[in-house]
Amino acid sequence: MEITRRGFLQGAIGLAGAGMTGALTVPALKSLLPPPITRCNKDDAHDTLTFKSEGGKWYENKGNEVATVADFENIWDVAIVNWGPENLEEELGACEIQLALARVPTETGMEGLGVSVGDGSSMLMAYHTYKCPHLCCKPVYTEQGTSAISGKDYENMFLCPCHLSLFDPISIIKNIDEQGREVMAAELLEGPAPYGLPVVPVAEQNGGLIGLTTEIEWLKYCGQG
Ligand code: FES
Repeated sequence: MEITRRGFLQGAIGLAGAGMTGALTVPALKSLLPPPITRCNKDDAHDTLTFKSEGGKWYENKGNEVATVADFENIWDVAIVNWGPENLEEELGACEIQLALARVPTETGMEGLGVSVGDGSSMLMAYHTYKCPHLCCKPVYTEQGTSAISGKDYENMFLCPCHLSLFDPISIIKNIDEQGREVMAAELLEGPAPYGLPVVPVAEQNGGLIGLTTEIEWLKYCGQG
């Protein structure tokens, strides 16, 4: 069938009209859509690092209290703390996650990531023990042990129970994650993890400790982008 000039123009006018209608109706429709479904109650959100209730630990009587520098009296006091900033669900899909908060000897590489204690010879640092960068298990602080991989003895490390990756909390180095992003992490010493255990920057606010979301991208793995 021959396309006449008149038919073409009529078609073009029709399409333009449809486009204008679309331009007018899409924003209007959007305003009618319900807000995205969220599971997290915004009233429960907290940047503060609060002690997890855990029997048998040195912080067992501090459950749900905001952690302070003074709580960590000794180097290698390590506690599991809850962290649930407002945008965590949007970023990581969880309302609240757990981190390991530790007082560790100060080393280069920790600048801007931790809170200095006393004369500056130790720092409070938070580690993303919520998920190992290998296959998402939860590394645990281990005071001392012998590596089942190398047979070497070690002290004060994070050990992943699933495939025995070992991370050094005082060696904070720049890693490149599987997406090509730079991540500051506790160095991977051995095991199958692709790189180190990311840290979460912490700061002091109103006398308590908070986790910062400035580097939330460092925590996006295990299917989170
Ligand atoms: S999940 Fe941690 S080493 Fe495999």
